[in-house]
Amino acid sequence: MKPFLWEFQYRRQFEWLKNTRDFLYGKVRLGLQKRVLEPGCSIALITEELSEKIDGMVVGLDKDFNALFSAKKRGKKLSLVCGDVYYLPFKKETFDSVVFQFFLLWVKDSLSAFEEMKRVAIPTGWIISTAEPDYGGRIDFPHTINYSSFIVKSLLEEGADPFVGRKLEYIYRKSSLVNIQWGLTSVPFGIELAGKNFEKEWSFIEKLAKSEISAELKRMKTMERKFLKEGKRSYFMPVFYCIGRKKMT
Ligand SMILES: C[S@@+](CC[C@H](N)C(=O)[O-])C[C@H]1O[C@@H](n2cnc3c(N)ncnc32)[C@H](O)[C@@H]1O
Repeated sequence: MKPFLWEFQYRRQFEWLKNTRDFLYGKVRLGLQKRVLEPGCSIALITEELSEKIDGMVVGLDKDFNALFSAKKRGKKLSLVCGDVYYLPFKKETFDSVVFQFFLLWVKDSLSAFEEMKRVAIPTGWIISTAEPDYGGRIDFPHTINYSSFIVKSLLEEGADPFVGRKLEYIYRKSSLVNIQWGLTSVPFGIELAGKNFEKEWSFIEKLAKSEISAELKRMKTMERKFLKEGKRSYFMPVFYCIGRKKMT
């Protein structure tokens, strides 16, 4: 995955999901915690947000050195580690919480990643998945404007799991976490938001397409513009959250 290509998408997701993160941070009383890890932090937007909320140590980890380097240029004080979620370079029971967003879709073996995240979490520590998408559940009005199958195909080609959202509760249960709470967090895009989002959304799709976008996608873009002018457009993209804690041993 090319982080710079995705950077502007992460910034959009970061803004959209702010309220959900605040809701989850409140549930686990994150503001009172002392050590938090964000695996798959990429350009560390959430690591930075957490560093502002927590009076303690916040570490962002990613296997992509370039993304971390770009984050470090932005926030010199950020604690960032280049590493692999399957082999976290931390002692057991180091962190009060492990927080991540739009990460599991890129992780091929979620259960092994969870074992490792549990290892570095304290007993009763929280594993917090603030948002994982499910592109298979997208709703579009009019239903003919439906480019989710294109996004699904592109993500599968990139090695991601576009349907990870619906699997979250299963992954948590299978990992023997307790106090599991999960749900959907999403911004329903009505006519105003869909209008504001039009150029950015298409810019994302065009970036995803890498080279020329297909005639079918071009036709869809023209149709969407027309429907927006007629006030006839809304969509919903399901994004799931889940929290659970490590059992007391
Ligand atoms: C979609 S990005 C995450 C974006 C970021 N969490 C955010 O919300 O802005 C997924 C990140 O996971 C990282 N990643 C994928 N597999 C990983 C692994 N095994 N260990 C560490 N990082 C990994 C990728 O390098 C990528 O930066």
